[in-house]
Amino acid sequence: MKPVVVVYKPLYEEALQYIRSTCEVEYFPGYERNDSNFLEALGRADGLIGSGLKVDEALLQQAPNLKVIANKSVGYDNLDLELLKKHGIRATNTPGVLDDTVADTIMALMLAAARRVTELDRFVKAGSWSEKGFDDDQFGLDVHHKTLGIIGMGGIGRTVAKRAHFGFDMNILYHNRSRQEKAERTYGAVYCTMDELLEQSDFVCVMTPLTEETKGMIDQAAFARMKSTAVFINASRGPVVNEAALIQALQSKQIWAAGLDVFEQEPVHPDNPLLQMENVVTLPHIGSATEETRRKMAMLAAENVVAGVTGETLKTPIF
Ligand code: DGY
Repeated sequence: MKPVVVVYKPLYEEALQYIRSTCEVEYFPGYERNDSNFLEALGRADGLIGSGLKVDEALLQQAPNLKVIANKSVGYDNLDLELLKKHGIRATNTPGVLDDTVADTIMALMLAAARRVTELDRFVKAGSWSEKGFDDDQFGLDVHHKTLGIIGMGGIGRTVAKRAHFGFDMNILYHNRSRQEKAERTYGAVYCTMDELLEQSDFVCVMTPLTEETKGMIDQAAFARMKSTAVFINASRGPVVNEAALIQALQSKQIWAAGLDVFEQEPVHPDNPLLQMENVVTLPHIGSATEETRRKMAMLAAENVVAGVTGETLKTPIF
């Protein structure tokens, strides 16, 4: 009998085909957590693949045969790793294949926020660009030769550092759980304390995964340490930042601008004050969302789920 793999959320055809070559696939592109067909399939599942589904004890009770969960994302804050270990279930994610794409998004946010690209785009399209030109108070800030502070120097952090160092002549500061000596040698990155990073950086870029330790890590005290000309960038997970403190820092001009791909609540609520601010550039959590990269993520997750249900070595295990 073939192992059963439940696929929730849409998956590229080539990845589906790959799983189908060894497994029976139960496909729920528009799944609902409590849909009876989905629950019935979970009851027979050896593997689960998708992104974002909160995996808790209640879900695991409904999936007694589960051996592996393949997250189609690098982040895995939807998984309770201790719980999975207790149940003997392995977990995988998709590191590496998205680093360049997310780093491009982060550079786009830095450039757009500092050079006021979205705000000035609205200005031009509204027909406000008149004979008198534009005002000095519409000028932006330079990105090149500035200091970039990277909080969380993993694969994405290092890829941003590469762009910033070689492409924009930026000075790189970083704070991380461990020293990244290769990044220090290659990109001139300087390891420093969190406070030093916050105080000295022109761009503060948070790239840590969401964990119990990082939740709410960028708080009122952190914003108070930043320069009044600082541009704050978050393309990791919304809850790493205390959003009320971010709003307050922007409203009181404690910092200059922000570029955000992620929010405390997603989709972001239309009444969120961040959406009313000209100096905030927003994206709908699309850091890794290019056609090419999403295909690579899908294929890597598919390879992981098949390896997990057939007893092969996992390509990119979380543990
Ligand atoms: C990731 O891979 O974690 C991206 O943020 C998409 O969820």
